Formats: sequence, structure tokens, C-alpha cells
Amino acid sequence: MDDYFSIRNLKIDYKTFDGEKNVLDIERLSIQKGETFGVVGESGVGKTVLALTILKLLAVPPGVISRGQILFHHEDLLAKKEKEMQKIRGKKISLIFQDPMSTLNPVFTVGEQITEVIRHHQGLNKKEAAKKAGEMLDLVKLPDAGDIMKKYPHELSGGQRQRVIIAIALSCGAELMIADEPTRNLDVTIQAGILRLIKDLQRQLNITIIFIANNLGLVSAVCERVAILYRGKIVEMGTVEEVLHKPLHPYTAAFINAIPKKDEQLMERKHFSSHDEEADSQTCPYYHVCAEKKEECKLKAVKLELVMGTHYASCLKAGKEVR
Ligand SMILES: Nc1ncnc2c1ncn2[C@@H]1O[C@H](COP(=O)(O)OP(=O)(O)OP(=O)(O)O)[C@@H](O)[C@H]1O
Ligand SMILES: [Mg+2]
Repeated sequence: MDDYFSIRNLKIDYKTFDGEKNVLDIERLSIQKGETFGVVGESGVGKTVLALTILKLLAVPPGVISRGQILFHHEDLLAKKEKEMQKIRGKKISLIFQDPMSTLNPVFTVGEQITEVIRHHQGLNKKEAAKKAGEMLDLVKLPDAGDIMKKYPHELSGGQRQRVIIAIALSCGAELMIADEPTRNLDVTIQAGILRLIKDLQRQLNITIIFIANNLGLVSAVCERVAILYRGKIVEMGTVEEVLHKPLHPYTAAFINAIPKKDEQLMERKHFSSHDEEADSQTCPYYHVCAEKKEECKLKAVKLELVMGTHYASCLKAGKEVR
């Protein structure tokens, strides 16, 4: 497998008054160049912590990166110095935050902000940077770039703001874009437009995208492969087709049923995370709530293993069905 981007044995804890709490524990994850890879999980599962860690932006402390490697073009990002990371952030890897207003500065116009980023990273003069800014706004399909450039963030709609942020994220030529719930606060029709844009940009620019969401429906619209996170661990991974149509992990099955359908209530809460019950780090994190658990699930260590095709799961039951 082409190891364009991979994570190996990454463990991140979070220091609290009650001691250290495990936030992420990712054994392995490989992403190939040019693919759109989804990371899905409920709120608090560690998605943003993962995005921040990739760019070495995680606040440490309270975060503790106790082990692991994040390899990008075979170099470990976690071993890089801040100066080296500054050459990677924006230029090679960019991040779209889940809240557009935390990225845009309310006191500067959109044009000033895009131009500033381009000038800072690419050393262009004001006129060249303004031209490039206009091109970037065209790229994200914002009509009338000249008019948008003169506006302040609050004068734009949510969808327009998110397009501006995507333009900024791509303005310095990043080849890997991490989109952390980019459509979180948008209504459904606007969401669809942003998802289409992301997909189009991926094809047009041949970039790689890590698309983070709390909803499998969104991910299936844009991604080729997906990893399902539960309590900081990948419980299942595979193509969208494999995971959505033949889920191997009971948690994924419950999660799929929770994709809201018309006139349907969300699945009972009991199927989801119960962060108060501390699980043994080696055994199944879903044990306490799993409807299909067996005695052995409490005793045996469980790992993310290849079950079939490109479909991985960390469930004792999943492996047995095909062996
Ligand atoms: N600097 C940090 N280092 C480690 N863990 C942190 C840090 N800051 C917050 N946390 C904890 O990490 C856990 C995961 O938070 P995170 O923001 O990654 O969740 P999320 O999956 O992005 O949720 P959401 O869908 O609501 O955005 C939370 O319990 C949070 O308290
Ligand atoms: Mg988040």
C-alpha cells in the first residue's frame, strides 16, 4: 500500500484533575495520495484532537502525546520542530476548522484576509496577491469575487464564509486538506453545495482530503474510504461501500441506523459512548453497551484486523464470520 500519509500507534491522553484520560489510540491508518478519506465519530470521540495533532497544533499540556508517529511523505510530523512545521502548515497540509468564525477575523475584509495569507506564505506583492485571491474565490465558485473581497465576514452567508475558508486553505497550494466538520453549522441544501465543491476541488487539484464528520451520511457523499472512531479507537475501516452496506462492528451498525431518516427518532442513546465506564485499553471499548457481546469480549484483547477485501474491524465476532 502506498504510504503517502499514515499514522502508527498514536496514543494521546488528556490531563484532567482526576488523572490522565485516554483520548486517542490509533494503531494504524494509511491514506493514499488523491483519496478522500472520512473520519467519523460522535461528539467528543477525538476527531478534532486528531486534526490538530497532525498539524502539531494540539495544546500540550493538557494533551499528552505518549507515543506514535504521523508519517507524511515518509517523514514523522511529530518529530518535526516548530520551524519545520511552519513550512508544512498551509503549504503542504491545511486545516479547515469546524467553526468558520474561528478562522475568519471579523475586523478585516475577506479580501484583506486572503491577500494577507497569500502574501505571507508566497512572498507575492500586494497586487499579485490580490489577483491570486480573486482566482481562489473563483475556484471555490463564489461569483463576483471583487464584491466578496470588499465584504466583512459577518456580511456573508454561512455557505459563503465556508467557501472563503476553503479558498484560504487552498491558497498556498496545500496537497493534503483536513476538513474538520466543514458543514457542521450549515443547513442541508447549503451543506450539499459545500460537499459538491469539496469533491470537485479534490478532482480538479488532485489533492488528498481527510474529511471529518459526525455523520456517516455526509462521509458517504464525498469519501472513498472511512474509519469509524469510537472512544478514540478505530473500530472499523474500509471503503464506504463495505462499511455502510456490510458493517462488521456492532457499533457501526448502530451508528448507521442512527442516520436520521424522515420521521424517525434517533437511535436510543444506550448504543453510544458511555465515557463514564473506563474500559481496559486492550479489550473492546464498546463492550459495555454492545448488544452482541460475549464473555470472551471482556477477556480477550481486540485489534483492528483485516477481515475481508479492504475491510478492517476490531471485533472478535467480525473475524469469526469469515474464518
Ligand atoms: N489539548 C488536548 N489534548 C488532549 N485532549 C483534549 C485536548 N483538548 C480537549 N481534549 C479532550 O479530547 C476529547 C475529544 O475532543 P475532540 O474535540 O477531539 O472531539 P470531537 O470528536 O472533535 O467532537 P465534536 O464532534 O464535538 O467536535 C474531549 O474529551 C476533550 O475534552
Ligand atoms: Mg471536533
